[in-house]
Amino acid sequence: MTTIAVSNIKGGVGKTSTATALAGGLKLQNQKANILLVDADPQGSIKTQFGLKLHASQGDFSSFLIDNSPFEDAVQKVKTEAGPIDVMISSRRLSDADSRMAAYPRRDETLKLRMKKQDIKYDYIIFDTSPAMNLVTLNVLTFADYILIPVTMDAFAISNIKYLIDQVKVIDEFYDKAPEVLGILPSLYDKRLSMSQQGLEAVRKIFGKDFNIFPPIGIDSTIKKAQVKKQFIYEFPNSRAAEQYKGLTKDILGRI
Ligand SMILES: Nc1ncnc2c1ncn2[C@@H]1O[C@H](COP(=O)(O)OP(=O)(O)OP(=O)(O)O)[C@@H](O)[C@H]1O
Ligand SMILES: [Mg+2]
Repeated sequence: MTTIAVSNIKGGVGKTSTATALAGGLKLQNQKANILLVDADPQGSIKTQFGLKLHASQGDFSSFLIDNSPFEDAVQKVKTEAGPIDVMISSRRLSDADSRMAAYPRRDETLKLRMKKQDIKYDYIIFDTSPAMNLVTLNVLTFADYILIPVTMDAFAISNIKYLIDQVKVIDEFYDKAPEVLGILPSLYDKRLSMSQQGLEAVRKIFGKDFNIFPPIGIDSTIKKAQVKKQFIYEFPNSRAAEQYKGLTKDILGRI
């Protein structure tokens, strides 16, 4: 089982788009693979992405993580061209996780415990995380094998990457295992802007020696179209981002 957290403390950098494209991309590459996409963000973007509903009786990531409800109750199936993948959606229920988990003895490793106790096994689990380093994100990072960091080329890119890398070091110091940095993914990349080009140069210069910098994912309106149509980006054959995400998936498969 390989688990990957798609994470950045900055909002709107393409975390959800990347986590979704990666889950679908892995299925395209390997139809037999069992894949789980988990939304660990109370914004619940994955639910919106696929037009899924959260019925009152149904579980989600919050009920699994916080209330220890059965895993199966919280999982839904989503169709891809290559077959179904499992999705665990999220909702506002997750927003008070910090206070509801306050009395848990090992609250920062609850996810790891739940997965182990309920014997959850997939070939790949991809986590979409919220733009915050809170208890839920920490639970994902203490569980995941890898972290993939999407970044947009703005003034905060460098400091956000540094923060995440430092956080991984802290996890390495305090826990049995820290996620390995799979790489930095320049996303929503507009190659016509000198700011993007200069930003990417700076990222390569500062982090390129120690970390893998993936080829950028360009700005592509089909990402939004796919969201409106509740589809995977791969269902749009002429999409450049779909090709780039396919390339990313293959690149990642070569590294894990
Ligand atoms: N390559 C792209 N080209 C064009 N638009 C994109 C691209 N990637 C993402 N977007 C759009 O940018 C917005 C932010 O993307 P996304 O939701 O994936 O970011 P996020 O990091 O998950 O945001 P949040 O921190 O709010 O969860 C979305 O509206 C999405 O449709
Ligand atoms: Mg998101």
